[in-house]
Amino acid sequence: MSESSSPPNDALAHASEPVRVDSDLFRSRGSWRNEFECRIGNSFDGRITFEVGCFDAGFLCTIAARHPTMGFVGIDWKVKSLNEGASRVAAMGLKNVVLLRGRAQDLRQIFADGEVDEVWVFHPEPCDEPNQLKNRLIAEPFLGDVHAVLRPGGALVIKTDHPGYYQWVLGLLGLPEPAWFEAARQKKSVENGTPRVRARDLMRPADVPGPSSRIASQFEIAMTSADFWNDPAAMEHVQGRSFAGEKTLFESKFVRKRLPIYYAELRRR
Ligand SMILES: C[S@@+](CC[C@H](N)C(=O)[O-])C[C@H]1O[C@@H](n2cnc3c(N)ncnc32)[C@H](O)[C@@H]1O
Repeated sequence: MSESSSPPNDALAHASEPVRVDSDLFRSRGSWRNEFECRIGNSFDGRITFEVGCFDAGFLCTIAARHPTMGFVGIDWKVKSLNEGASRVAAMGLKNVVLLRGRAQDLRQIFADGEVDEVWVFHPEPCDEPNQLKNRLIAEPFLGDVHAVLRPGGALVIKTDHPGYYQWVLGLLGLPEPAWFEAARQKKSVENGTPRVRARDLMRPADVPGPSSRIASQFEIAMTSADFWNDPAAMEHVQGRSFAGEKTLFESKFVRKRLPIYYAELRRR
């Protein structure tokens, strides 16, 4: 068979597609490692990171350019942002990035069980109105799906600028809120050096969910921090990780306002 008539290699045939949509989203389920091998070649080290809410892929592309042997998949449901992301991937000539337009909730249709090494959820929608709390992504159903697609020992990394969301995550994990949240709620003065908290973003303790035994059975808590960038323990914890030292677009805005970034990392059991 001549070269021109050989059957197309599926991954390569689609490698130049900027953004995958609709049923195409699910095409690589179970074959992501093959796909990245085809894209990157033998140097692919087998690691796959999935970023939820990648927006314009600015953060993902910066990290992917620094780690050309790793595979990165970003998802967002905003068409315009993802089109910007696609242009960025093309301009930077990144073979190790795939962008998906879709819902993070379709995680298990996108990846097979154990196919992912890290899932990043950086600055999820706060959904902080009382009638929106049920829509928060970080909750038992989504975490159950993350558990399924992560390999054993794989990590779910969560960052948020929203103290109420952090309370929510801590509640699910059975951890207490930082001591200074109560002072912020009561508008009491605090010691110099205490991270700033916007009281309007805090949840009433009564509204914080209780610990989830399902989540506890699926994950161990690797690290939490109420002031990621100024916490030596958190900095040491993430040293050497692909995302260390880099801020997302949203994160940068909050850091500029001297507001803390909250961090939680779970390891799949
Ligand atoms: C607050 S922005 C944060 C963007 C980026 N992670 C950052 O830190 O700069 C949240 C992003 O997540 C996307 N998003 C929220 N929920 C999503 C979901 N369930 N599925 C896909 N994208 C989602 C939004 O469209 C938006 O781009």
